[in-house]
Amino acid sequence: MWATSRGGERDGYCGVVEKRIGNTVINTCPNTVTHSRMPILREEERVLDQHFLHFSYVQGFTPTQSDSALFIQFTTPPHHSFHSLHRWYTHIHSYGTERLKFPGPKHTSLSFTFNNTKVTIMVNKTTDETGVAAMDSLSLAEKDSGQGQGQGQAEDIVDPWNVQASSNKGIDYDKLIDRFGSSRIDEALLERFERITGHKPHHFLRRGIFFSHRDMHSILNRVEAGKSFFLYTGRGPSSDAMHLGHLIPFIMTKWLQDVFDVPLVIQLTDDEKYLWKDLKLNNCHKLAYENAKDIIAVGFDVNKTFIFSDLDFVSGEFYKNVLMVQKHVTFNQVKGIFGFDESSNIGKIMFPAVQAAPSFSSSFPLIFGAKKDIPCLIPCAIDQDPYFRMTRDVAPRIGFQKPALIHSTFFPALQGAGSKMSSSDETSSIFLTDTPNQVKKKINKYAFSGGRDTLEEHRELGGDCEVDVSYMYLSFFLEDEARLQEIRQEYSSGRMLTGELKAELIKVLQQIVKDHQERRKAVTDEVVKQFMTPRPLNFTGKS
Ligand code: TRP
Repeated sequence: MWATSRGGERDGYCGVVEKRIGNTVINTCPNTVTHSRMPILREEERVLDQHFLHFSYVQGFTPTQSDSALFIQFTTPPHHSFHSLHRWYTHIHSYGTERLKFPGPKHTSLSFTFNNTKVTIMVNKTTDETGVAAMDSLSLAEKDSGQGQGQGQAEDIVDPWNVQASSNKGIDYDKLIDRFGSSRIDEALLERFERITGHKPHHFLRRGIFFSHRDMHSILNRVEAGKSFFLYTGRGPSSDAMHLGHLIPFIMTKWLQDVFDVPLVIQLTDDEKYLWKDLKLNNCHKLAYENAKDIIAVGFDVNKTFIFSDLDFVSGEFYKNVLMVQKHVTFNQVKGIFGFDESSNIGKIMFPAVQAAPSFSSSFPLIFGAKKDIPCLIPCAIDQDPYFRMTRDVAPRIGFQKPALIHSTFFPALQGAGSKMSSSDETSSIFLTDTPNQVKKKINKYAFSGGRDTLEEHRELGGDCEVDVSYMYLSFFLEDEARLQEIRQEYSSGRMLTGELKAELIKVLQQIVKDHQERRKAVTDEVVKQFMTPRPLNFTGKS
């Protein structure tokens, strides 16, 4: 019997009794079961999480009564760390009472045991294989591990449009890994990287600037087996004022291209910026070409790199893939992932499919021919992950591989790690067009210091590298490991003063900005055209 029920929303019953919601009689469980309603165990959540890692629903491509039946088993939302299960849960939850109208039940059944009671939910065959086997092996002796969740703590906001830390220490990246369900880039991965590539990992990887990944081991497996993959990254061209932070994913991508010798596609989402910003379509298109110059100036190899504007390129095979993605993602799903609502313009609702499509090699027939199965690695800032969670979710359902990812932290604003550098706030950013003097002035004036209030205090207590923006920037841009360590020691012991730390950073950044400007000057319209012309790339095509 459903003995308890917490929260009006989920006062379920299952075959034993019937329940009325309004005038509708619902009976969501196909089989009669008799048991007390107990919280779902951690172990059970873990198994379900595994299931939803590979499937969007209990069965098939649309939610059914099976999902509804499972949903009402939850007396509280599943734990955040069960990312796939949690996503399924919030998605089903978002339907409200519409859940009652889900179609079903169908032919076969998925059986699993909750709290010593066998619950049967109608499923299809594929689900059976992964779902039931795992469920049956569950040990139900385990007691409820007491989840202690949902106590309404302030959370960092991280989505493609907002980055705001809940504390001045900056974003809690460990928590993000939990919430997003990705994996930490750890020592073991870095060691393996070095062993397979023969290259010492880039300092972005060693210093935790790229800190999280999905399926990076599969990419390394492939490289180990002498096979290839391709790189994909992108930029939304909303202003011609690119800043230092914008360079981070491109610097990482260039290094990966050099190390692995693989083709690269770079998407310029002029369409996205038109849909989201108050900008004219032609202006977005122009900005894409302007930004392409800064991207090219990072040093990509023209023989292995294709840069495209969505406005120019979305058509043909690429568009076919966009459509396949669109057909397999519902409004409810993008609502759950991106927070769209009924008043969002419809371009926004479909746009994620456009950002998904470059993850599939068949979107680029000129580069990959008919090969549909060349895996993709996407270096990006962690705020882009929602797009690729969606992409990874649909990929197997439309016959493609899931893209692998490596995620970077944000480049902090001059004012501190609570927010990221942003073009729309002049004082938060060092632009790639800044003069040496501007670089110097901004750092001296705005860069948040972890130094102490008085000289005596500073000498005694030392500076705090954890919050000091100048130190953070050095960890991004000063490659010399020994010097960085030295600075850290000198500064935190109080021997080095904030002014001295800033002077060191100013030198480093002036050089970087100057070099960038020189390389950019060499990027003519002709060069841009070369990069942006659809064409075969120099790619050996081992697969
Ligand atoms: N949406 C991204 C932005 O606004 C642009 C983008 C498109 C992107 N495809 C990508 C970024 C792939 C990283 C990886 O900047």
